[in-house]
Amino acid sequence: MSAGSDILMRLFGRPQGFLGRLGGLIMARTNRACAEWVLCLLDVQPNDKVLEAGFGPGVCIELLTGLAKGGYIFGVDISEDMLAQAARRNKKAIASGHVELRRGSAASLAFANNSFDKALAINSMQVWPDALAGLREMRRVLKPGGKVALGFTPYSGQANKGLPELLGAAGFADAHVVEKGKNFCALAVKLRDGAKGAR
Ligand SMILES: C[S@@+](CC[C@H](N)C(=O)[O-])C[C@H]1O[C@@H](n2cnc3c(N)ncnc32)[C@H](O)[C@@H]1O
Repeated sequence: MSAGSDILMRLFGRPQGFLGRLGGLIMARTNRACAEWVLCLLDVQPNDKVLEAGFGPGVCIELLTGLAKGGYIFGVDISEDMLAQAARRNKKAIASGHVELRRGSAASLAFANNSFDKALAINSMQVWPDALAGLREMRRVLKPGGKVALGFTPYSGQANKGLPELLGAAGFADAHVVEKGKNFCALAVKLRDGAKGAR
């Protein structure tokens, strides 16, 4: 890895140390609008149980607490520094049991099958060592009929191509990409047994 990409990884990809904490502060400002848009697309309902993989500084988790007011919000992130930042941002909701944040990998989610109504990741999947494994795990923990959203800003480094195919390979149906300005979001569903996809 070049020095430049190592610094970018420490800032944003897998935030670590001083650079990671700085990256968290930057992401908290720059990714909020994308998170708001993705949550609209995901159509989060008041009683939904929602999972975010790669929550970073926890802004989207905080937005979710205002949407799934009677539901539960869970988050998993590989970075200890982001866990600390997100936990600070969502201190009250964690104390009340509305939010639970854990350190861990998207590729190995410590949740039972068919647990969540919605699952999402923003500017995160592009840095997972094995994106397909992470998406398969997200599908496993989604309830049948559950929806997944993968949002990206233009500086995520993720190409706006091949996402429906990747989601399809992970077992999702009705995978498609929508765009807003330079942001884009891939959406898909976990079909109920015996159901046929719309696309
Ligand atoms: C670019 S940041 C985006 C953070 C946040 N979603 C946002 O939009 O501001 C990527 C995040 O994904 C996390 N991450 C990287 N690899 C991961 C993995 N394998 N499993 C879970 N989280 C991961 C990083 O620690 C980091 O917090």
